[in-house]
Amino acid sequence: MTVSTSEAPDIFSEAHARDPHASYRILRDEFPVVFHEGSKSWLVSRHEDIVALLKRKDVTSEIYSSSIAPVHGHTIIEMEGKEHSTHRRLLSPFFHRDGLDSFKPTIARVARELAEPFLTREADAVRRGEKARGEVDLAVEFFHQFPISVIEQMLGLPKERHADFERWYTAIMEYIDNLQGDPGRFERGLQAKKEMTEYFLPLIAERRQGDGDDLLTMMCQADVDGDRLTDEEVRAFVSLMITAGGETTDRAQGNMFMRLLEHPDQLEAVYADPSLVVDAFAETLRHTPPVHVAARTPQVDIEMHGVTIPAGDTITCLVSAGSRDPRKFEDPDRFDIFREDNNTERAFSAAADHLGFINGRHFCVGAMLAKAEIEIGVTYLLANMPGLRMAEGFVPVESGLFTRGIDSLKVTYDPII
Ligand code: HEM
Repeated sequence: MTVSTSEAPDIFSEAHARDPHASYRILRDEFPVVFHEGSKSWLVSRHEDIVALLKRKDVTSEIYSSSIAPVHGHTIIEMEGKEHSTHRRLLSPFFHRDGLDSFKPTIARVARELAEPFLTREADAVRRGEKARGEVDLAVEFFHQFPISVIEQMLGLPKERHADFERWYTAIMEYIDNLQGDPGRFERGLQAKKEMTEYFLPLIAERRQGDGDDLLTMMCQADVDGDRLTDEEVRAFVSLMITAGGETTDRAQGNMFMRLLEHPDQLEAVYADPSLVVDAFAETLRHTPPVHVAARTPQVDIEMHGVTIPAGDTITCLVSAGSRDPRKFEDPDRFDIFREDNNTERAFSAAADHLGFINGRHFCVGAMLAKAEIEIGVTYLLANMPGLRMAEGFVPVESGLFTRGIDSLKVTYDPII
């Protein structure tokens, strides 16, 4: 049985762009598996179904080898089997425990260097009596810059190349997020790939011989039972990392602050006990996640809810719909950092309740890095920005289909003078 698309909400519609959760509700309840004409893919929206699909070995990430590999090169995100597990074993240690701990001072320094200029500017303005409260657009002055600067510093890149790095990042993001098929965007993405290759290949050759403690040197020299990454694999992973770890963490911070500012009692609780930043992040990943979809290719025909998804078609797992499935979470549209059905201890592992980092073998490699960035960055901001409120009359606007978040978050606060 195939369910007619015309009856189901269209995820490419204006209505969906305004409020995706309204259409996710209908999809989950009435069309748990349905073909979407616009994306030529099967939409799956219930938590249980998505988890089952992501865990199947015969449901692969092959689709990414045509959608994103042209701009990054061949990376872990589309690999399967032994190749995938070898890359996970080589790369994971840098993003967990001791490997990650060694980068925490870098993360703290980047947070401080980014925030100090506006904290000082606003404190001076209040001291001079020019305004009553500090004012800043946190999305513009902090969230957007923070993750990409952290990655740059972890890789040990020179600060003079920041502008190039930012330009490459933007061009690659625009390539990936090119629903309209704009040829200019494709061209700029491929040009960025060319420039990155010219910049990174000589640098990789240099770092293979070096003794630095930066992430690029470590990746060049990683060796697990004789398996090593080639120059091209290191270069492609850097390219993947700036987008996988850049826009996601940028949007995660914005989404989290937006929800906390809308729930002043929960924001107060986090001010009073900064360890709750992690609970707030876990709940944001469930309630307002930056990543809404994960695409997959079934290698065999799959039966679900009386529908046959043919082998070789594309499945769009609506992970954000799954994370608000009432079959899994109580009162799922309520943002509640104290909820018990989204366990914080498990929230940054492949056993997480929410699907913000997905589930199964492709579970986000950078989950613990994202957690460290949010913990360090947000705790620093809260400690230096008492009395945060949304700026008078400001209403944040969420946008994006595959990744979703805000580009502006104007706030006021009481500077520490
Ligand atoms: C809040 C921040 C983040 C979110 C919400 C997020 C989300 C995700 C999601 C949903 C996937 C699965 C994609 C798929 O298979 O379809 C993923 C994979 C991945 N993420 Fe993240 N991510 C975040 C931060 C990071 C960071 C900081 C890094 C930096 C290393 C990173 C690196 C990766 C990589 C390399 C993969 C591919 C893993 C594999 O295929 O085995 N992510 N992430």
